[in-house]
Amino acid sequence: SDPVAAAPQRSFVLLKPDAVRRGLVGAILSRFESRGLKIVAMDLRYVDGDLADQHYAEHVERDFYPPLRTFVTSGPSVAVLLEGDQVIEVVRTMNGATDARKAAPGTIRGDWALSNRENLVHGSDSAESAAREIALWFPDFA
Ligand code: TYD
Ligand code: MG
Repeated sequence: SDPVAAAPQRSFVLLKPDAVRRGLVGAILSRFESRGLKIVAMDLRYVDGDLADQHYAEHVERDFYPPLRTFVTSGPSVAVLLEGDQVIEVVRTMNGATDARKAAPGTIRGDWALSNRENLVHGSDSAESAAREIALWFPDFA
């Protein structure tokens, strides 16, 4: 097989309530589209506590989870299924460091956020996480 062939992949991305409240949905999506990533599915979602708990299953016991749960259920989010070559890693790099106070300029968090909680975007962190999250958020595409 061709070692440099594109490897189509999908990632689950969530534009969190701060992105919607601040009117940054278009600007964030524009970055992903300009990079060459394809929107496969997209939906404005009112995330409830149960969906938040399932999405953040790995974090529900952490000290930071209760305020995170309050935040992610504080208003509508935009759920996006993105596709592209190495999209999982590309999106994580474009999102920037989790703690937006430490995120590099040029990243979504580094340009537009300054919080370790309200950091605008979620992106799947591995192929396994992407499969789990796509099954949860976009079961028709799992
Ligand atoms: P995590 O999965 O570690 O980060 P990422 O979104 O970069 O994959 O954490 C999930 C979210 O939880 C993170 O985006 C913001 C929030 N969070 C806090 O509020 N406090 C914290 O100390 C951490 C690590 C995360
Ligand atoms: Mg994570």
